[in-house]
Amino acid sequence: DQEIVGHVKQQLSKLFEASLRTTVPDELDVEPLVVPCTGKFGDYQCNNAMSLYSRIKGKTTQFRGPPAIGQAIMKNLPPTKMIESCSVAGPGFVNVVLSTKWIAKSIQKMLIEGIETWAPRLRVKRAVVDFSSPNIAKEMHVGHLRSTIIGDTLARMLEYSNVEVLRRNHVGDWGTQFGMLIEFLFEEFPNWEGIGEQAIGDLQAFYKASKTRFDADPAFKERAQQAVVRLQGGEAKYHRAWAKICEISRREFDQVYQRLGVHLEEKGESFYNPYIPGVIEGLSKQGMVEESEGARVIFIEGKNIPLIVVKSDGGYNYASTDLAALWYRLNEEKAEWIIYVTDVGQQQHFEMFFSAAKHAGWLPSDGKAYPQATHVGFGLVLGDDGKRFRTRSTEVVRLVDLLDEAKNRSKAALIERGKGAEWSDKELEQTAEAVGYGAVKYADLKNNRLTNYTFNFDQMLNDKGNTAVYLLYAHARICSIIRKSGKDIEELKKTATVVLDHPDERVLGLHLLQFAETVEEACNNLLPNVLCEYLYNLSENFTKFYSNCQVVGSAEETSRLLLCEATAVVMRKCFYLLGIVPVYKI
Ligand code: ARG
Repeated sequence: DQEIVGHVKQQLSKLFEASLRTTVPDELDVEPLVVPCTGKFGDYQCNNAMSLYSRIKGKTTQFRGPPAIGQAIMKNLPPTKMIESCSVAGPGFVNVVLSTKWIAKSIQKMLIEGIETWAPRLRVKRAVVDFSSPNIAKEMHVGHLRSTIIGDTLARMLEYSNVEVLRRNHVGDWGTQFGMLIEFLFEEFPNWEGIGEQAIGDLQAFYKASKTRFDADPAFKERAQQAVVRLQGGEAKYHRAWAKICEISRREFDQVYQRLGVHLEEKGESFYNPYIPGVIEGLSKQGMVEESEGARVIFIEGKNIPLIVVKSDGGYNYASTDLAALWYRLNEEKAEWIIYVTDVGQQQHFEMFFSAAKHAGWLPSDGKAYPQATHVGFGLVLGDDGKRFRTRSTEVVRLVDLLDEAKNRSKAALIERGKGAEWSDKELEQTAEAVGYGAVKYADLKNNRLTNYTFNFDQMLNDKGNTAVYLLYAHARICSIIRKSGKDIEELKKTATVVLDHPDERVLGLHLLQFAETVEEACNNLLPNVLCEYLYNLSENFTKFYSNCQVVGSAEETSRLLLCEATAVVMRKCFYLLGIVPVYKI
């Protein structure tokens, strides 16, 4: 376990761990509890004393109370350059004031060696992030948009933290609706093999029309049901028709992914289909599968409905596929952490098959041990009326239109500010995209994912307040300060020294240095809003620094320019992790 420079919490924890081993040599499993704090007593605090006292008071009379343990912990800290001073407060809290010089040095080191050196290291090596996952021929709705945005950010944060991430699009590409779609394709487009995907047009309309046909004509219905059997039996023509329909859907989904700059690998439900019989066979051998009303089910402790794994008609379902997919991810892909991003409405489904997997011994029953499966749930997207988000018509929202509108609005705002004349078309276009798509993403990510959020263009595109627009502009402003100084930053990194003498410089410097532990926390709890909050506070701290400390033309100019640069570097990394493209000019 290598030490990460620029990870204050980790480095302090190491020091306190060493101190604890000296202070209470028999209590080897006590882990240091180190937390950042904002008070006049210090920057960080070690909170072990109280619980440690109750643990050892029966065994030894060495310490008269928690404050005495606190004193001993403080005294036994190994010598270090990172700590300026310590004090013990209340019931044994050890407060730490970091050395300002050390903070400044750490920032300078990052500027020279790059922000990759601040990347946290997690306990897992390989993870699956199952996200986006729309259903073929059905609507890709705002819920899928949330899953796409949240999942992509989680994948980016894990990747930065040295985890190999398998980004999986678990599309719903298998199911009885395909019989109907295939028959309708044959009927409507007799030469379907020869035509391009575009000729079929909008797949949702196609789905609706085929459903109408299905409900109206018993003979068609009969053929559709036959088609499912022939498709599942592997008949080539049916398989080709299925593939064609999937291809059309894929094109639509890709338009959304392309706008959002999201990459993921499609491994749809159909991929896991061949693994289902073996997996269910295995669970049956373990005595977990029972007959119930013609279906085959797994009873889960504490749940009043069983998990159906084979339907009464002999077919498989969502749960059977998810069991097979989990099996595959654990055994074939050797993932240690499997993360599913869907709306909270599916929580029960995930709890059920995770329980089954634990029962089968695929996952350890201790929830903290690895491999681990985690459901990342999120709330609804609401419209201004407080109801489920819809566009003007009662129809569902087309995601592509939604994203285009965000872009067009941000473009209009830029033109209003005179950028149309000032910039090239390409610049205008790229900035409008960065701001528009960034705004949609940030509005989603800044709230705790479990809360419902209201989709409102005016709010998300406001250039004041906690929005992507405000943050992107703040970054651009920093870049322009540096540009206008006329100084060569690369040169300054080597020749000038970062000094943090002004209190606002120190606050900004310490905040910069807390980047690594923030990303680590966001990863461990799978909460992108933690990073958003950090980014917003960074911008606030910068504003405070910039209004109280003159940069260009001051005696501290070179150091302060380096501080500007460090802020811009960290902001850009935050943007990157949130899937937002930075802008350099406004
Ligand atoms: N296709 C599903 C839906 O639209 C989401 C799939 C999530 N992933 C999973 N492995 N179940 O609701």
